[in-house]
Amino acid sequence: MPLLEIESLGVSYGGVVAVRDISFHVDRGETVCLLGANGAGKSSTLMGISGVVAGRSGSVRFDGQEIGRSASHHIARAGLVQVPEGRRVFPAMTVLENLLLGGIHAHADERRGRVDRCYDLFPRLAERKEQAAGSLSGGEQQMLAIGRALMADPQLVMMDEPSLGLAPSLVEATFSTITRIRDEGLGVLLVEQNAGEALEVSDRAYVMETGEIVLSGTAEEVRKDPQVKSAYLGL
Ligand SMILES: Nc1ncnc2c1ncn2[C@@H]1O[C@H](COP(=O)(O)OP(=O)(O)O)[C@@H](O)[C@H]1O
Ligand SMILES: [Mg+2]
Repeated sequence: MPLLEIESLGVSYGGVVAVRDISFHVDRGETVCLLGANGAGKSSTLMGISGVVAGRSGSVRFDGQEIGRSASHHIARAGLVQVPEGRRVFPAMTVLENLLLGGIHAHADERRGRVDRCYDLFPRLAERKEQAAGSLSGGEQQMLAIGRALMADPQLVMMDEPSLGLAPSLVEATFSTITRIRDEGLGVLLVEQNAGEALEVSDRAYVMETGEIVLSGTAEEVRKDPQVKSAYLGL
């Protein structure tokens, strides 16, 4: 049984249909990316899964449970978390305080263990733990946003354009973090415009166009697709 199984998901805003009847799945220990041009419906898909949009339809099964009608806080507590787009951290709070907020539902000693795991994954955060989050560089804030999501001890992490606006060296660091998270056995659902890099760290991929999935396969298969090559990889 897949960790996350989406069947006929639809998302609409008032009368505007952003996602139309899409179906896909994510297993434990795999990274799956959703590719597509601006406006294809990638962010809406993630929001439909995490329950933060009103107009959703279809079925979302997570860890064997139907969550397609659950409230977003129930979904997060079930172990499905999203790293917010644009790495929204609380700028006036310290790095440590931001992390602790992500583990607000855990017991104090569990929380300490998870903070240590975040510091292990991102030594930079340990060095800056007493610093205000707003004083971190963009790449460090991205690490903090991912760390905060991991503080909930999720089974699946969704990320919306994590490489957006980062310097090339930090893009590399972000993608290698994704691989480490996956290798710990978590599922990762990744949305990216940076198709080349995303396919490199993904096991499978789905391509969206105007709210629908038009292509799917292993990352290797999708990378070799002539349409993908010309439209997304600039080849
Ligand atoms: N809050 C909103 N209200 C109305 N339409 C929206 C809203 N958010 C997104 N859309 C529309 O839904 C479609 C898909 O957008 P989005 O999911 O953001 O695409 P992507 O993330 O692939 O760029 C677009 O046509 C967009 O204009
Ligand atoms: Mg988007």
